[in-house]
Amino acid sequence: MFITIEGMDGSGKTTAIAPIKECLESLGYKVLLTREPGGHKVSEEIRKVILADYSEGMHPWTEALLYIASRKEHIDKVVVPALQQGYVVISDRFMDSTSAYQGNARGLGIAKVNEIQEIVLDGCIPDLTIYFDLNMEEAERRINKRPELKNRLDRENLDFKLKVKDGYDQLVKSFPNRIKVIDANLGIEEVQQQTKKIIVEAIEKWKVQT
Ligand code: TMP
Repeated sequence: MFITIEGMDGSGKTTAIAPIKECLESLGYKVLLTREPGGHKVSEEIRKVILADYSEGMHPWTEALLYIASRKEHIDKVVVPALQQGYVVISDRFMDSTSAYQGNARGLGIAKVNEIQEIVLDGCIPDLTIYFDLNMEEAERRINKRPELKNRLDRENLDFKLKVKDGYDQLVKSFPNRIKVIDANLGIEEVQQQTKKIIVEAIEKWKVQT
C-alpha cells in the first residue's frame, strides 16, 4: 500500500509520521519511510539543486520538471520495488506537492501539472494521502522557530504560501476519496494519534480488498 503525507512547510508532518513506522511494524507490517524531493541518490542530488540558493529565480517549469524528474527516479528505484515486495510505503510529500507549489502557487496551473504527472507517474498514484492542514499564522510561527532549517521555498512571501494552501484545498475537494485531512493545529500527540488511526484503518481495509 502506498501512502503519502502532504502539507505546508511547518505543518509537523515529518515529526508526526516518525513513530508510525514502529507502530505498524509492531502490527506485523513491513514499512518503508521515504521522502521527496529525495529518497534515492539521483533524487537527493536533484533535491540539492532545487533547494540551493543559486536556484532562486529558476523558471517555474524548470522547478516543476526537476521535482517530477526526481519523483520518477524515486518511484522507479524505491517506491515500486518496495510495493512489489509487500512493503507499506509512506512518502513524506509526493505528487500533490508539485500540484500545490508549482501548479497553483507558481501559477503553472494544477490541471497542466497533473497532466504531465499522469504521463510520467504511469499509474503510480497513492492509495491514501494525508493532508496536514495548518493555519498560516501557526505555519509561519513554526518555521520562524527553526530559521536554520529554512529552505528557498520557506523564504517565499505570504502570497506564495497562501496560494500553496489554496492549491491543497482545491486538491482536497477534487480527490475526497484519496485525500484525508488532519487538523495540524492540534497538539503533536493528538495529530500523531489521528494519523496512526487513519493509516491503520486504511491498511486494514486495503488488506481485505486485495
Ligand atoms: P521538505 O522541506 O518537506 O523536505 O520539502 C522541500 C521543499 O520543497 C518544501 O518547501 C516543499 C517543496 N516542494 C515543492 O515545491 N514541490 C514538490 O513537488 C515537492 C516534493 C516539494
